[in-house]
Amino acid sequence: MIPKFVGLKALKMKVLFVCLGNICRSPLAEGIMKHKLNLDGLIEKVVVDSCGTSDYHIGDMPDVRTRKNAEKNGVKLSHLGRQLSSSDLDQFDFILAMDRANHQNILRLGNGTHQDKIKLMREFDPMEGDEVPDPYYGNEDDFQEVFEILDRSIDGFLAHLRSKGLL
Ligand code: 4NP
Repeated sequence: MIPKFVGLKALKMKVLFVCLGNICRSPLAEGIMKHKLNLDGLIEKVVVDSCGTSDYHIGDMPDVRTRKNAEKNGVKLSHLGRQLSSSDLDQFDFILAMDRANHQNILRLGNGTHQDKIKLMREFDPMEGDEVPDPYYGNEDDFQEVFEILDRSIDGFLAHLRSKGLL
C-alpha cells in the first residue's frame, strides 16, 4: 500500500527560478517567494528553488551585494548555486526565466517539450517590463531595482497561482 504522505507530497507545487549565474537574480527570487509564502503560512504547499543556465557559480553563495540588498529588504538568502539540468524540466511545474536569453536556453534544453511551463518572470509583473536586468556589473541602485521588480513580479505570480486555484 502506498503511504498517504507520498500522495500529499506529490501535490506540492514546484517552482524554479532561473538566471545565468544563480548568484544574483534567481536566488533572490527564490528568497522573496519563500519569504512571502512564510508570511502567508503557505510555505509547506510549495517547493521553491533556483538555478543558473551556466556552470559559473556551482556551490557558491549568492553574490554579497545581493545578500546585503536582500537583508536590507528583510529577506534572508540561504541558496547555493547549481546549474539547470534536463530533469528540472520534468520535475518543476513553473520554470521562470529572468531574461530572454535564459528563457531561450531553457527552451532549447527542453527541445520542444515543456514549453507551456517555461515563462518569463516579468509576465507576472503588474508594471510594464520585459526582462529582469542583470545587476552583476551594476551598482547598489541596480540591485535595489532588481529587488523591486522581483517583489512585484512574485506578488503577481502568487496572485496568478491563487486565481488558478493552485495555492
Ligand atoms: P545572475 O547574475 O545571472 O543574476 O546570477 C550573474 C552572475 C554572474 C555572472 C553573470 C551574471 N557571471 O558572468 O559570472
